[in-house]
Amino acid sequence: MMLRSIWSRCLSTARRFDHISPAAKDPITSVTEAFLTDPNPDKINLGGAYRDGEGKPVVLQCVRDAEAKIAGSEFLESVSAAINSKLVEESCKLIYGGDSESIKEERFAGIQALSGTGACRLFAEFQRRFYPDSHIYFPNPTWSNHHNIWRDAQVSVRNFCYYHPKSKGLNFEGLISDIKNAPEGSFFLFHPCAHNPTGIDPTEEEWREISYHLKVKNHFPFFDVAYQGFASGDIDKDVMAIRIFLQDGHLVASAQSFAKNMGLYGHRVGCLSFLCDDVKQAFAIKSQLQKIARAMYGSPPVHGVLLVSTILGDQTIKALWTKELKIMADRIHGMRTILRESLEKLASPLNWEHITSQVGMFCYSGLKAEQIDRLARDFHVYMTSDGRISMAGVTTSNVDYLATAIHEVTKSDFRES
Ligand SMILES: Cc1ncc(COP(=O)(O)O)c(C=O)c1O
Repeated sequence: MMLRSIWSRCLSTARRFDHISPAAKDPITSVTEAFLTDPNPDKINLGGAYRDGEGKPVVLQCVRDAEAKIAGSEFLESVSAAINSKLVEESCKLIYGGDSESIKEERFAGIQALSGTGACRLFAEFQRRFYPDSHIYFPNPTWSNHHNIWRDAQVSVRNFCYYHPKSKGLNFEGLISDIKNAPEGSFFLFHPCAHNPTGIDPTEEEWREISYHLKVKNHFPFFDVAYQGFASGDIDKDVMAIRIFLQDGHLVASAQSFAKNMGLYGHRVGCLSFLCDDVKQAFAIKSQLQKIARAMYGSPPVHGVLLVSTILGDQTIKALWTKELKIMADRIHGMRTILRESLEKLASPLNWEHITSQVGMFCYSGLKAEQIDRLARDFHVYMTSDGRISMAGVTTSNVDYLATAIHEVTKSDFRES
């Protein structure tokens, strides 16, 4: 009797999960969720992933060729260690250059990561462990998930000036001043190409100056390389910033993703790498990265990594990849031109030059919150609430509709000088 009453008291007072309320919606994934639940046939998803000219997901022929080459081999358990080293080596060559001194002298340390997100998360954890009092500076704005990743790793985050709302371009003066004013030895996160969300990249001259000022303050550059090839269509040009930093003698770390440039979103293939002073440091860093990853997710999946290392390691397949990458980049570039022309033909009162001056997958449109809401409500056009348009979702079939919708929600605005 007594036991039963204690039991019922426990049941009534302590409902185990009542203190857990729903998490805030993610600003990017919620766009796709809203798009998917809309039954309207004219709906457009401008939230993220690359789509072909018909709005369909793309499987690149280079991926198909790599699949044919590796068929069956992922079942060989013993393959994975060698393949991981191959992935790291090929990924490093891709961003640092096959003939860079650090690669030739094997002064690099790297680890296969769960795509770009996983590579950033590993780095954030590394930073917390080995530089516990350091800050990381993000461009303002940056990919929204950067904030989640470093917050969860309990690293202090600060921002540096990047976007200039009036010019819809780079706030270069502000950027340099923030580098100069940051405490010596701070960490700085850069998007070396196709900045997300603004589509604005510094010029070569500006990167040289950024590199110089980082060196003066002994700051550490961390590159998040999520869109190599998507800015210019050329894999080497798109990492020009990283190569400038190497010429200037920086040690650097980079997170790489193959989600977009190989169309392998679902496979989660990425790499986190460091360039070190010598082989001894590289050995130590690699072993620490392995230790961090071991506790987070054990070991990474094998199939995607076989695909990427095969594409990068086979000259014929790699050549096909770079061709296909250029086709994707050109398609996006073409859509930028058509969207801008369509808005101009509609006699829009606004200046849309930034659609074509920005690069990569995203156009930071400058649309206001109420205009973005109206686009979703009245025109079934979905984008993130900061006005970021994924140009990858624009096709020859929907570009006129999109231009008309944007014109309708903006036509009462006045052209800014
Ligand atoms: C700047 C940036 N970094 C990293 C990522 C991570 O991409 P993934 O984890 O899909 O490779 C993204 C994806 O949107 C991104 O835009």
